[in-house]
Amino acid sequence: MSGREAAVGATDTVVAVGAVTANVAASAVTAGAGLAEVSAASTATGTGPGKATATAHANIALIKYWGKANDELIIPRTSSLSLTLDELYTTTTVRFLDENREGVDQQNETAHYDRATLDGKPVTGRPMERISALLDIVRERAGINAPAEVTSHNTVPTAAGLASSASGFAALAGAAAAAAGLDLSERELSRLARRGSGSASRSIFGGLAIWNAGHDDASSYAEPLEAGVHGATGSQAANDGATNGTASDISASTGTAFTDEIALIVLVLDAGPKAISSREAMRLTIETSPGYEPWIRQHADHLAEARAAVAERNLVRLGEAAEANALGMHAAMRAATPSVNYLSEASHSALQAVRDARAAGFPAWATMDAGPNVKVLTSAEHAEALNIWLQERLDGVVPGFRTIVTHAGPGLKVTR
Ligand code: PMV
Repeated sequence: MSGREAAVGATDTVVAVGAVTANVAASAVTAGAGLAEVSAASTATGTGPGKATATAHANIALIKYWGKANDELIIPRTSSLSLTLDELYTTTTVRFLDENREGVDQQNETAHYDRATLDGKPVTGRPMERISALLDIVRERAGINAPAEVTSHNTVPTAAGLASSASGFAALAGAAAAAAGLDLSERELSRLARRGSGSASRSIFGGLAIWNAGHDDASSYAEPLEAGVHGATGSQAANDGATNGTASDISASTGTAFTDEIALIVLVLDAGPKAISSREAMRLTIETSPGYEPWIRQHADHLAEARAAVAERNLVRLGEAAEANALGMHAAMRAATPSVNYLSEASHSALQAVRDARAAGFPAWATMDAGPNVKVLTSAEHAEALNIWLQERLDGVVPGFRTIVTHAGPGLKVTR
């Protein structure tokens, strides 16, 4: 049984430091969800649109997406490579209501007609518009006109650079498509999730996933990086030709994937919402930063390095490429006008602690997204010891932080 096939929460690896306590809910989410389950859910709708529930896990990019070639379709400037995480996920139920939206003020209809709650609180404003925009794509495709009720629960601190939008929009795409009676392949689900939030395209898949930048809606989708993992065998992902020559083989002798040998420690330094959306920060970086094009050029090398590292199961090579890519991305946004800075004093202390951990002999490389939190790539073997080491090192330096030890998590699961 691979790491991704284990029930999430079987071992609760959340550790509380200082006054802050953490409790990631244990939940029996199993892996291997693919087209079969999505199809079963959607055909069970019977006479028309109904209700479905989906769980999608957050992913953290090791080689980043930062900047769009097409804002409306969310086609990125670069391909990106991520790890889907076991401990952090979103569960979303979509129910299409038994009424239609005819007679609604067409100018304003979507924002008013759909309803959504996140962790029991009503979603309003721009986040609600983004949910309705994704539901519109599903409604148009399914030929339905019903408003939807969306109920979502997150174990990910929302909008704090912990990839809540990735798990959120992947779960919404899966639940909405199934509730609308659509029978989509994993690739189609990835393209749909991408329209909500670019990074969500990768959360359809478990383990290591690559989002191919592509050049239009059809060619911009994610797929598993390692052949045969995430229960992809026999799934549409495999049928679509998702595996390719650069995918690393599963070890014949052990049956384990490289994905199962790595771990990620999330240093939660601040779980509050971010000051500037990634969408706006990307736009500022592209339009004004002299550091953006140089980062794009380096990015091609970082991605090639990371792919080669996965193929040869070389964590050092992967970690070095990941850290360089993230530091370059943050340097590029720093050089924008106005400057974008997601990193706090605590982030810099954490980055120093990661460098110190490396000097002490640990495999440890940092990556940061659109928020102050620092994620540390390490080996599954060293994860617990490194976690304790980092806690001791940061205790008293960063007040009230906590850590979450995560491993590779599963892909989208849809149920009714
Ligand atoms: O998908 P968005 O709009 O939340 O952008 C995500 C951007 C980063 O998290 C910083 C990088 C990535 O590839 O996930």
